[in-house]
Amino acid sequence: MTKTGAEILDSYCFLGTNREVSIPKGQFADVILLEYTGNHEKMSPRLKVLNVVGARPNLPKIAPLMREMQRHEAIEPILVHTGQHYDENLSDVFFRQMGIPSPHVNLEVGSGSHAFQTAEILKRVEPVLLEHKPDLVLVVGDVNSTIAVSLAAAKLGIGVAHVEAGLRSYDRSMPEEINRVLTDALADYLFVTEEEAIQNLLREGRPRGSIFMVGNVMIDSLRHFLSLAQQSVIGDELGLKNSASWRRFGVLTLHRPSNVDGVQKLGELLGAIDTIASELPIIFPVHPRTQQRLMQSGIHHHPQLRLISSVGYLDFLCLLSKATLVLTDSGGIQEETTALGVPCLTLRENTERPVTISEGTNLLVGTDPSKIVGAAKDILCGRAKVGKIPPLWDGRAATRIVEILLQLVPRESINY
Ligand code: UD1
Repeated sequence: MTKTGAEILDSYCFLGTNREVSIPKGQFADVILLEYTGNHEKMSPRLKVLNVVGARPNLPKIAPLMREMQRHEAIEPILVHTGQHYDENLSDVFFRQMGIPSPHVNLEVGSGSHAFQTAEILKRVEPVLLEHKPDLVLVVGDVNSTIAVSLAAAKLGIGVAHVEAGLRSYDRSMPEEINRVLTDALADYLFVTEEEAIQNLLREGRPRGSIFMVGNVMIDSLRHFLSLAQQSVIGDELGLKNSASWRRFGVLTLHRPSNVDGVQKLGELLGAIDTIASELPIIFPVHPRTQQRLMQSGIHHHPQLRLISSVGYLDFLCLLSKATLVLTDSGGIQEETTALGVPCLTLRENTERPVTISEGTNLLVGTDPSKIVGAAKDILCGRAKVGKIPPLWDGRAATRIVEILLQLVPRESINY
């Protein structure tokens, strides 16, 4: 007997479990799932899931998944850190603030070229997979660690789940786009955050039954931590607060190689930001890649453009949630601003997250200085785009993912 995903979810209600899983049927991409086996909590053995993080944006995505997996007796979660990011502000602070358990293994791969990083992770993770013999490897996002571990797992015949699958910028000059396409080609379980990702995966020939619309785990973290984040003292430290009320300010992040690696492009972008900063103080937490380029270039900036070191998750979420305007080239921040209802200008020519444009507060302004300044002035004059929250960005994506994994992933089936 086969059941559709929606029917299986109906079965949960019918069985009267106390778990809440609600996926509107229209959102479920008509997936055909395996035979429904009843109460999975009583099935044995436990489902061993090896979860992977490597770089900063992976951490808010893995946090709710680890939390959810730890709630289930039937799951044995293992966490592997590749060490792609290793600094306190890019890694450790996120573990502490978000309560992510310490990794069982750190591959300590460190920085290097794409080929070096990917190859080192491949080499170093294989013995870990052979030792732990997981039933499934779960990867998130689109960084080098995502593709490297997926490839090592797939070659060993281990199932791969990709969380945040199907996003496409259709720009192969972005290293992340290559990582996305390859990871999705290898993954057996494709968890998507928005409708268009489903179409992208189907166009690439991925089977319908492996695609699951579940919402957005990064927004799970945002919802979970927002009230705590708003207790941060960063507003006082940066002089953005007058007693309890916040002044108007903007937030800037820039770290894409296409924007920061060339001095001319970086100079042009910062020139546009300077013009905006003459009207609105802008806080710029500087990524290490950008920091290196700024030090080499000697570019000057407006005094109201305030460069600070990278900040931890809670401080950054606090700043985002209180900002009048966010300028960014990050993928995740386009989604976070949409979830917060904060106007966002994306300084790129394309986005792999189109729902933030069609439904959210995001505007793709590109890198032409006059367009950036014009769009920022519109927002400052009260003509900001009003968005709405995309479907299923409700804080319960990790719950849905774990339920589906418990239902579908075969246990101890691999011959190493
Ligand atoms: C990586 C991801 C990118 C993600 C970004 C978030 C890939 C291909 N890129 O880019 O998708 O948006 O992380 O930050 O996986 N460095 C430090 N401390 C660290 C790590 C790096 O100072 O903990 C410095 C190193 O000098 C390194 C540079 O930052 O050379 C860039 O780091 P790297 O991991 O190569 O790429 P990111 O630009 O961070």
